[in-house]
This record gives sequence, C-alpha cells and structure tokens, in this order.
Amino acid sequence: MLKVNNVTKRFGGLVAVSSVDLEVNEKEIVSLIGPNGAGKTTLFAMVAGFLKADEGKVDFENASVLGMRPHQICKLGMVRTFQITQPFAGLTTLENIMVGAYSNTSETDLARTKAEEVAEVVGMTSLLNQGADGLTVAGRKRLELARALATDPKLLLLDEVMAGLNPTEIDDIVTVIKGIRDRGVTIFLIEHVMKAVMNLSDRTYVLNDGKLIASGTPSSVAEDPQVIEAYLGHGAAEAMAEGA
Ligand SMILES: Nc1ncnc2c1ncn2[C@@H]1O[C@H](COP(=O)(O)OP(=O)(O)O)[C@@H](O)[C@H]1O
Ligand SMILES: [Mg+2]
Repeated sequence: MLKVNNVTKRFGGLVAVSSVDLEVNEKEIVSLIGPNGAGKTTLFAMVAGFLKADEGKVDFENASVLGMRPHQICKLGMVRTFQITQPFAGLTTLENIMVGAYSNTSETDLARTKAEEVAEVVGMTSLLNQGADGLTVAGRKRLELARALATDPKLLLLDEVMAGLNPTEIDDIVTVIKGIRDRGVTIFLIEHVMKAVMNLSDRTYVLNDGKLIASGTPSSVAEDPQVIEAYLGHGAAEAMAEGA
C-alpha cells in the first residue's frame, strides 16, 4: 500500500532521514519507533507531502506521491495527524471534525453526518458541542484522530497520539485505534509508549539517527541488541522489556 524507497532528508549539514526503505501493507498496524530526534516526524512529513525529500521515492497504492501537496495526497486516501495538536480555537469540536470531512464534500449536512459518525468511533459524541479550546490533552488527541478520520483515509499516519496521556487514557485510545483498523483503515503510527506499541503493532520499524536499524515483530525488535543500545540512557530498554 505504502512503499518508501531510499528516502533522505537533510537540514543543512544534518541528515535527519537517511536512505530509509519501508513498507506498509493493507490492513496492517505498523509502528515507527526510535529516540527523540531520530527523524520519525520528518519521515511522516515527507510521506504526507508536508516536506520535500531530497532523494528517494514514496509510492502510495502504486502512485508516486513525492512532490504532491498534502491535500492531493489526502484525496488519494493518506492523511497524517500532528504531534502538536492544533484545534481551531473558537470552533466547536463538531466544527473542528467537519473541517476534515470537507476534504470530501462541500455539503454541510454531509460533513456534519460524517463528523458525528467519526466522533462516535473515537468516543467524542458527548463533547461535540463544546468549544475545542476547552478540551483536555486526551480530548485534543481524539479530536486530531477524528479530524483525520473524517477525511475517509485508507491509510492513517498517527504521530504520537498517546503522548501526555495517563495509562487509562492510553488503554482507551489503543482500543479506539484497533476499532479503526477493524473498520478497514490501515495504520502507520509513531509512538513512544512501548506497551501500546507491543499491544497494537503487527510490525515495527526502528529509526535511530535518521537510519533504520531494525524491523520485525515488536517482540523481536525489542530484543534486538542494536535497538536496546539505541535506547540506552533513554530508559526505554526497560520499558520495552516490560511491554513484551
Ligand atoms: N525544519 C527543520 N529544520 C531543521 N532541523 C530540523 C527540522 N525538523 C526537524 N529537524 C531536526 O531533524 C532531526 C529529526 O527530527 P524529527 O523528525 O522531529 O525527530 P523525531 O520525530 O524522531 O523526534 C532532529 O535533529 C531535528 O532537530
Ligand atoms: Mg516527532
């Protein structure tokens, strides 16, 4: 479904993403992990059309998407969420979700119906008429998810949707993400919460210093000495062992 081939991004002298190859198949949940600054968000930004790659190829369902704008890629069925949530202040939760739905329709009624439907999927129905600026962190993360889902994606790219959530909220969002996959949406997620990575992923890729250093099932990756090494000092090696 998604094929990333030899993709590289430099910022001045820094190689943020270095010759990365990976793929995501239909109906999978694939995760991308790695220490802070590894290049994960930069990779997503290139895949979704927000940043131009210096080298490489990105194909989505056999169409080359490198050089396309985010809204064009969204129309093809691939959409990302942002690590830093940005609800439109002054709009309600419903109106914020409708912004996503308007990528497929210009009709208010259809956009509202779609927004209400995805709100149900992410468990936000009771919050629809509240101002989005009053949402909690967990609420904002769900809103980000709902807005992306409202575009009717085939492939959803999630950038740290669990950051800042407590364990109960994390369990809830893991359930929501599984539910989204069960509706036929393929998921590619960047995540730091190892328990969730272990619980959700069919396959995991590990990025360190811009390079892929491991890939495979989450448990095989967690036991990979190179991965443990990359995480040493970040406290994640233990967390991974716990999660496995
Ligand atoms: N727009 C930018 N300009 C310059 N450097 C950047 C920019 N975006 C990211 N970087 C750098 O690229 C590296 C990878 O960043 P990022 O992709 O955000 O990592 P991650 O999401 O894995 O934490 C970091 O060293 C970061 O400082
Ligand atoms: Mg990031």
